[in-house]
Amino acid sequence: MRVLITAGPTREYLDDVRYLSNASSGRMGYAIAQAGIEQGWDVVLVSGPVDLSPPPGCEFHAVVTTSQMRDTAIRLFPGCDGVIAAAAVCDYKPRERISGKLSKTGGPITLVMIETDDVLAELGRMKEQRWVVGFALEAQNPRENALQKLRRKNCDWIVLNAPTAIGADTNVCEFLGPAGETLAVWSGSKADVGNQLVQWLQATAADGE
Ligand code: CTP
Repeated sequence: MRVLITAGPTREYLDDVRYLSNASSGRMGYAIAQAGIEQGWDVVLVSGPVDLSPPPGCEFHAVVTTSQMRDTAIRLFPGCDGVIAAAAVCDYKPRERISGKLSKTGGPITLVMIETDDVLAELGRMKEQRWVVGFALEAQNPRENALQKLRRKNCDWIVLNAPTAIGADTNVCEFLGPAGETLAVWSGSKADVGNQLVQWLQATAADGE
């Protein structure tokens, strides 16, 4: 099975030296990539900037911005059987990127932000026979919001976790199906959770749905 995995944060630049991003370490996505390789999958890892080395044996594509992650994932998805979208993608970017370095004005400045591309939603739209696993990071009404995301992004399954997962060593996840049913609950180190997700997908998706 050949599987695309997105991981890590993306960055959106205000000018040539400053950017907006988030505290994602990439550890969840990299743990899934590692578990996939151990399972014998061909892993295609598309990652934003993180302090981790790509697991040996994966096909690695480094990206920085959301639009680079989008272009790379869209190009690679047709050659894969499925995608696991573990990246913490920036939802907004400055409407304009200033070239050079923005100077101080002596007063407040206003930044106009626009939405970035939704990588997972685009992959969901083009999925055809491929399977799609999303992640949902929810602070409020977790199950309801996760299910809405699953539907909006045309996912087959979604991994629900809490904002405490960001940057942490461990994770607690609920794995939901298309009717919002809980198919599994996984907890432990991100390596444990990654392994359990890969085992589940191997048992369920390996022969096609
Ligand atoms: N995702 C993506 N591209 C984006 C935003 C999110 O591919 N621009 C993916 C994430 O990798 C994850 C899923 O969509 O698999 C849900 O991400 P999340 O941040 O929980 O949801 P958002 O769609 O960003 O919605 P909101 O921030 O409003 O909760």
